[in-house]
Amino acid sequence: MIPIFDTSAQTAKLQEQFKEALAEVMLDGRYILGPNVQTFEQEIAELCGVTQGMGVASGTDALHLALKACGVGPGDEVITPSFTFIATAEAIVYCGATPVFVDIDPETFNLDPVQIAQKITSRTKVIMPVHLFGQIADMDAIMSLAQEHGIQVVEDCAQAIGATYKGRPSGSFGAAGCFSFYPTKNLGAFGDGGMVVTRDPTLAAQVCKLRAHGSNIRYYHDEVGFCSRLDEVQAAILRVKLPHLRNWNNRRAEIAQFYNERFENLPVQTPATASGNTHTYHQYTLRVSDRDRLVKEMQAAGIGAMIYYPVPIHLQNAFQSFGYKLGDLPASEKAAAEVLSLPIFPELTDSQAEQVADTLTTLLSKITV
Ligand SMILES: Cc1ncc(COP(=O)(O)O)c(C=O)c1O
Repeated sequence: MIPIFDTSAQTAKLQEQFKEALAEVMLDGRYILGPNVQTFEQEIAELCGVTQGMGVASGTDALHLALKACGVGPGDEVITPSFTFIATAEAIVYCGATPVFVDIDPETFNLDPVQIAQKITSRTKVIMPVHLFGQIADMDAIMSLAQEHGIQVVEDCAQAIGATYKGRPSGSFGAAGCFSFYPTKNLGAFGDGGMVVTRDPTLAAQVCKLRAHGSNIRYYHDEVGFCSRLDEVQAAILRVKLPHLRNWNNRRAEIAQFYNERFENLPVQTPATASGNTHTYHQYTLRVSDRDRLVKEMQAAGIGAMIYYPVPIHLQNAFQSFGYKLGDLPASEKAAAEVLSLPIFPELTDSQAEQVADTLTTLLSKITV
């Protein structure tokens, strides 16, 4: 079986360093917002070319607290894609605001700026692009729309740590960038974790307050906040991994290049990288007709192929009250019907990648004859 992602392969390689880091945390005793969290926040801010990072309990919380710190509340609208993981839209709903779903560019799977412009109203408070599968959205167009209309931008960078757009890193464009350290992310913890990055000191102070029960000074609470800190243990693990991130992302790109070459003449659409972008290939996602049959056959052949995502958010039961229907976002709906993600992670060996490519090639030749 070749899994879609193998957390244990990465852990095995670094286990001695993890043991040392964990032993230090254990003996140090500063378990909440301790020295590893502080240093890791600086390291991620540096990676993103911004001034501050605030460790929180998850990527979902990063989005939620960043939106709250931007002042998003009831009556506000937040423009975001529907073809993404549910957490993106949940964060908007947690704030009491309304998600306004905009369709995607079918090539990159990211927000289509032309359609964003059509959905801006006097209530639009934030545009929240998602850098889906590891590729940054069209940020020049998005930032200029936001500036023109006085709207803030919060980037969902959960899948795009280390990605660049015209040389600039993810998380460096909007008022805030939000990261996830969920175990299967390109930089993954041994549990949940997340971070908000910004170069705005006021926004940073607000996120710091919100993550600590609405308090700057212990036991004095300005507002009702949350209990959402990145754990010291997770920060120690992530600091062991961070120096490897660039190489890991490069290896993912190498595997993606191999797949692209092997699939050139097959009846599939390989993932496109927009010019000026470096892709982190959090997922390697193809488009293919007869997808549902193919995914079952791949899995039966021992290849961990997956569908990210089978139902766009505007058609999810949980979002019915927002009044969308089938046909409202055709590019998102078509993507949901056609996408297929293949195993891609730094420890995937060349021979495993060959096996994935061979299996797909054989199965497709059977389906298409
Ligand atoms: C695009 C996107 N946004 C948000 C999240 C939420 O992150 P977390 O699982 O850390 O809460 C994820 C990942 O799970 C994601 O892929």
